Amino acid sequence: MNATTASSTEPTATMKARSMKAAVQRHYGSPEQIHTDTVAVPAPGEGEVLVEVHAAGVDRGVWHLATGRPLVIRAIGFGLRRPKQPVMGSDVAGVVTAVGAGVTRFVVGDEVFGTADGSYAQFAIAKEDRLAAKPARTSMTEAGAMPVSAVAALQAVEDTAKVESGQRVLILGASGGVGSFAVQIAVAAGAHVTGVASAAKAELVRELGAERVIDYRTTEVTELDEQFDVIIDAGSLTSLGRLRRILSPTGTLVLVGGEGGDSLIGGSGRSLVAPLVSLFTKQRLTGMISATDAVLLGRLAMLVESGAVHAAATSTYPLERTADAVTDLAAGRVAGKAIITVRDVA
Ligand SMILES: NC(=O)c1ccc[n+]([C@@H]2O[C@H](COP(=O)([O-])OP(=O)(O)OC[C@H]3O[C@@H](n4cnc5c(N)ncnc54)[C@H](OP(=O)(O)O)[C@@H]3O)[C@@H](O)[C@H]2O)c1
Repeated sequence: MNATTASSTEPTATMKARSMKAAVQRHYGSPEQIHTDTVAVPAPGEGEVLVEVHAAGVDRGVWHLATGRPLVIRAIGFGLRRPKQPVMGSDVAGVVTAVGAGVTRFVVGDEVFGTADGSYAQFAIAKEDRLAAKPARTSMTEAGAMPVSAVAALQAVEDTAKVESGQRVLILGASGGVGSFAVQIAVAAGAHVTGVASAAKAELVRELGAERVIDYRTTEVTELDEQFDVIIDAGSLTSLGRLRRILSPTGTLVLVGGEGGDSLIGGSGRSLVAPLVSLFTKQRLTGMISATDAVLLGRLAMLVESGAVHAAATSTYPLERTADAVTDLAAGRVAGKAIITVRDVA
């Protein structure tokens, strides 16, 4: 569907804005190559809305899509030779400015958060079932930080690990995007949380509710003389065998990510092997692939409204500095979430 066939609810301002600024990466390579360019404003098709982007979070996935690494991601639909979607970004918080045919959940003017392909731009198209109403309690900037990372944390802690009150939970990568939300969600469930993070970010993890923080640079956590009922691994670099050593005999290990590894499949080998090893032990070992949808975003919004979850320390970057944001995240220079602020709003 093109812009002229979009819903008549499209406002005049958007109709006039036929082009927009966007952060693009047309070839796989260093994220430093991400640059701002002028591209056409997309038009919403059936079941889609056009969002005027206010803020959009940065997560590890953006680095993977910019670099095309590991190579397997190119084969699973993101573009064999170059990114299929050159406009980067997935997280989004903003205002609906046009609706496509058949959209029933949103009208122009609604404040929303969720995921949209190509959200590092002034406007982005989102499927209506990938959006929810922005929690009133939170700013656009905070809401933009949440969708990918907080939904992954929600699925890891509540749906996959089924964390219960009183359990001992270890969260690796506790200072990062997924981990900072996972700490809060596990604490809200009544768990005793130990976080693993670098010393510089330990205070942040404590503020999120962790009872204890272990610095992975000075302590090999898998050598601890204790065991955990649940391990959520968003640090993504520790071997399955080592993690099993500190998991209780009937405990659950959730492998959220997979970093490092070879150029073909990267660190995802652990998640492929985990279910097979699970067959021969009472420990439950599992990977997970999160998918943001309206139901999960609604659950997240309720946690936010209750005060249990917020976006931890955030670093904001204007659209023109998207390359710096992705580079800083990959280099470990970001605590919590990096956020691209497209409109200068709170
Ligand atoms: N399964 C899914 O659907 C899904 C969804 C979202 C993300 N992910 C994956 O989850 C992982 C985390 O993503 P993210 O966006 O949260 O990344 P992030 O924000 O970059 O956080 C990475 C975390 O890992 C920690 N870390 C770095 N090196 C470490 C080491 N050697 N040992 C232990 N911890 C270490 C960092 O600690 P410091 O910063 O304190 O050094 C930080 O807390 C990535 O692999 C990502 O691809 C998967």
